[in-house]
Amino acid sequence: MSIYDKECDRSLRINTVGKREWLHQSSHYNRYEATPYKALDEFFEGYKLNKTDSVVDFGCGKGRLPFYIHDRFDVSVTGIEMSGQLYMEALENEASYMRKVKRANAYIRFERCLAEEYEVGVEDNRFYFFNPFSIQIFMTVIDNILLSVERRQRSVDVILYYPTSDYIEFLENDTPFELVKGVKVSGRYEIDPNEHFLVFRFGD
Ligand SMILES: C[S@@+](CC[C@H](N)C(=O)[O-])C[C@H]1O[C@@H](n2cnc3c(N)ncnc32)[C@H](O)[C@@H]1O
Repeated sequence: MSIYDKECDRSLRINTVGKREWLHQSSHYNRYEATPYKALDEFFEGYKLNKTDSVVDFGCGKGRLPFYIHDRFDVSVTGIEMSGQLYMEALENEASYMRKVKRANAYIRFERCLAEEYEVGVEDNRFYFFNPFSIQIFMTVIDNILLSVERRQRSVDVILYYPTSDYIEFLENDTPFELVKGVKVSGRYEIDPNEHFLVFRFGD
């Protein structure tokens, strides 16, 4: 955790730092750790969200990404989290963040559920994943996204931070998604080649 992470949390009036391991570690569900703010700054410098977008963070933990993009772009965002404890912390953050927000055209909401059971809304069009779960669960979630596109045609983006090769190979080989953007996190990518963002797109 960096000083910058703490500073950004303070300015949003939230607390999202730290890691959380699971007592009964499952090979399907990964631990909590937030995307570093520095990485978010670099990625969203070149990848813009519009007010009409609706973002879903699959495995949002304490909600750093939802608060960050709501604050920066004023877009609607849903955080999905399976852990009851992290979900409660996200709600506490929401109460504190909302006291600072003056304008609120867009909503932030959190749902406590398994990502694979979340019913993708027909307005949801940007989907964020920071290494939350196994490839099997990822496949189910991508299926659910594609089914929602069948219900309403639209362009959808899947954004991966710190992607593993199984996620990438699955999207490239077994789905209609195409890679449209890659952003390396400076100072980190040189040490760890997983330190980048990839954006895959489907639809017009
Ligand atoms: C690496 S953290 C990412 C946190 C956040 N997306 C961010 O980038 O700051 C992964 C999170 O996914 C959650 N998670 C793991 N499996 C899940 C599942 N099947 N459904 C919902 N949440 C899940 C974990 O509890 C953890 O909070």
